[in-house]
Amino acid sequence: CGIVGYIGNRQATEVLIEGLSKLEYRGYDSAGCAVNSGDSLSVRKFKGRLSVLADDLKANPLSSNIGIGHTRWATHGAPSDVNSHPHLNMDSTIAVVHNGIIENYMQLKEWLISEGKVFKSETDTEVVAHLVDYYYEGDLLDAVYKAMAKLRGAYALGVISKDNPDELVAVRNESPLVIGIGEGENFIASDIPALLKYTRNVYFLENGEVVHLTKDSVKIFNQDREEVKREIYNVKWDIEAASKGGFDHFMIKEINEQPNGIKETLNRRLDENGDIKLDDIKLTKAELDNINKVYIVACGTAYYAGLVGKHAIEKFAKIPVETDIASEFRYRDAFVDENTLLIVVSQSGETADTLAALKEAKSKGARILAITNVVGSSVSREADDVFYTWAGPEIAVASTKAYTTQLVSLYMIALDFAIKKGTITKEQYKTMISKLGETSDKVQEIIDNSDDIEKIAEEIKDSKDAFYLGRGLDYCLAMEGALKLKEISYIHAEAFPAGELKHGPIALIEEGTPVISIATQDVLFEKMVSNMKEVKARGAYVIALAKEGNKEVEKAADRVIYIPEVDDVLSSILTVVPLQILSYHVATKRGCDVDKPRNLAKSVTVE
Ligand code: G6P
Repeated sequence: CGIVGYIGNRQATEVLIEGLSKLEYRGYDSAGCAVNSGDSLSVRKFKGRLSVLADDLKANPLSSNIGIGHTRWATHGAPSDVNSHPHLNMDSTIAVVHNGIIENYMQLKEWLISEGKVFKSETDTEVVAHLVDYYYEGDLLDAVYKAMAKLRGAYALGVISKDNPDELVAVRNESPLVIGIGEGENFIASDIPALLKYTRNVYFLENGEVVHLTKDSVKIFNQDREEVKREIYNVKWDIEAASKGGFDHFMIKEINEQPNGIKETLNRRLDENGDIKLDDIKLTKAELDNINKVYIVACGTAYYAGLVGKHAIEKFAKIPVETDIASEFRYRDAFVDENTLLIVVSQSGETADTLAALKEAKSKGARILAITNVVGSSVSREADDVFYTWAGPEIAVASTKAYTTQLVSLYMIALDFAIKKGTITKEQYKTMISKLGETSDKVQEIIDNSDDIEKIAEEIKDSKDAFYLGRGLDYCLAMEGALKLKEISYIHAEAFPAGELKHGPIALIEEGTPVISIATQDVLFEKMVSNMKEVKARGAYVIALAKEGNKEVEKAADRVIYIPEVDDVLSSILTVVPLQILSYHVATKRGCDVDKPRNLAKSVTVE
């Protein structure tokens, strides 16, 4: 979910709608707002996209200079008008917007009901409104503090009260929240893009902090109610970076931004000799030598990047690596000690499971390295070392440029570790850096020559299922390719290691089933060609992905997508691009909402 809040001289609803429109990537199944209209709080909230709320406000404007807004991704309670935020107390004098999950809401709800409170919704958030009301004696800040003491879980909150028309109170605990500082106006939001139209000056909050905003002041307090001083962070990037800029969808814009993202991620960390310089990674050679196990932990696309990272680190730095899904890792009592390095990969830096896995490993003494795209995000602050992917803001739910920059980051880390540990020669190191540098232009070449991919999309767009095959590194890419297709086109897509075909998956092949077969690894090429022939013989429509010059593949495939020549180990950076483009075209041809696929959210800050 995404929250915003405003206090100042403008029409609050305009600021709220503008802010929410930049947060829809966090959820978009309902939206709502509450403003202080003097003698009452006015609330509008609807199931559906933000446009439903915006249209309603256009038809019946609400005039006020203070308000809170919300865009929802349902957790407790299905999307509906009544489950939408804001939530209110019984006499509608206190309104709350919430991002996160209140874990103990059932107990609190029972207790509040026994105290005579009547609930309208099925949400966990409504307990907060009743709880603040329960403690409210005229001082909103005090009531929020007392309510907070009862809450367990992850939450960012924005709270307003009818009787405190000049105050907005906000809280951050495990869920992201930034404070925007204006002149004669102040803001809260779940993420920076929501504020950029109005201000570049922000405060990041720490967990457990409470903020009191008026139009002329922002005061941050810690858990002990002491005021804390915080430095202002000035946002350098532009709002343009977070808007579509001529493209039909964010996803295709972001696919096109990959050459630049790759370049930025790499070049910002090369010194004058062209060597990798990881300023934010303080891990010394001695510390590195003590590390005998690496875990890479993440969710979704970031997890698939982690699988490639395993190949790279094991190959170059010769340290055993296990890649795991954060929601599995956190509960499986993995073997972690002071000699373990945990690498978390997270575009947003806010994914709840990833953050929890990080904390779990940290408590067992592991060293934590975070790869994230968001400066100041929760994982970046919890980690010992941080590597920022310079992808720029990623808005489309389906991750593209974050993934390729995560790959570049993992390769760089692998090479850096390897040269420090002496597991590769200086010459190999130099060669790999230079080859890594070439990937950016090669990705551009793939994008520039992608017309054929659109034709293939037309051919497969009505399929019920699609399968992706690969071996070794290509299998990691097959998984990411299948994820891209299923999440935005809703075609059932699955990846298999090609060698496993005969142990089951081949039974699924029917006449015309598209099988996207990735064959970029020289040593595995022939084996892949055999696998393609096997599925083709059973009626599959084989779409092969191979390196230029490997014409052999044409005998086994119905269609071939070529990528430029590239070192086997780095092929992932190139291979993923046609897979992204294919999914994009299939989804648009099917009329799907590419940037906001059903049931998904970009940033999942709940477990
Ligand atoms: C959600 C998004 C995915 C993303 C995953 C992990 O599921 O829809 O695109 O890969 O979260 O997000 P993170 O921000 O941690 O990389």
